[in-house]
Amino acid sequence: MPEKFSTSHKSSGALPAAPRHVAIIMDGNGRWAKSRGLPRIMGHREGARRVLDVFEAAAKSGVEFLTLYAFSSENWNRPKTEVKALMKLLMASLKKYGKMFLEKEVRFRTIGDISALPEDCRGEIEKLEQSTRRFTKSNLVLALNYGSRGELVRAVNKIGKSSNITWEDIQKNLDTADIPDPDIIIRTSGEMRLSNFLLLQAAYSELYFAGVYWPDFGAKEFEKAMREYAKRERRYGLTTEQLKNK
Ligand code: FPP
Repeated sequence: MPEKFSTSHKSSGALPAAPRHVAIIMDGNGRWAKSRGLPRIMGHREGARRVLDVFEAAAKSGVEFLTLYAFSSENWNRPKTEVKALMKLLMASLKKYGKMFLEKEVRFRTIGDISALPEDCRGEIEKLEQSTRRFTKSNLVLALNYGSRGELVRAVNKIGKSSNITWEDIQKNLDTADIPDPDIIIRTSGEMRLSNFLLLQAAYSELYFAGVYWPDFGAKEFEKAMREYAKRERRYGLTTEQLKNK
């Protein structure tokens, strides 16, 4: 069994086994705002606050990688004013996170094609990636201008003309090349789909759908998801008996 599929990090002690990598589709900011008679951007602002709360809760649970779907490659089709406001919020958030990352020794990285982002955002991202690259224990990954199909196309173009391509060849050319596959993918807001997020990496991920909008998804909701994860049996195509004898 490949190392990244290993279940050895699961403890048999009193604490529930923490997933190594949690990925989240942060959905429902707009509906959260609408239900309060507020403009959509207020939902995004409140959503940006949850990023830090949930990151802290994840780190406390022992999660090593937290990946957040912050802006999909399809989100460019939203009204121009919303895209602009989201970029502004991203920029402000990156500046705010910077200090925390250095203090808490968090490695910041992105997946997605960031070349299409505004120049100031790109600059801030590159600065943060550089200044935190020596940290190894805790990782915050933002998916920006990300979509799985685009990621696959980028990987195939990087490989170029070649025969006998293996999964390993593709895997090491994905944006997530040195990031383990997510153990659990959470989506908020009650929608039950993956929306072009980590489709290849999700092959063996547990899926968890929370019925609350992202701005209402705090530490308590996160812990609830972790308890649910601890109850699931991940078999990777094996039988329960085979797992027990491993
Ligand atoms: C989904 O809600 C959310 C987004 C498209 C953007 C996610 C952005 C944030 C949480 C804030 C900024 C993030 C960072 C990392 C700074 P939606 O607008 O699709 O909600 P709706 O489905 O109710 O309309």
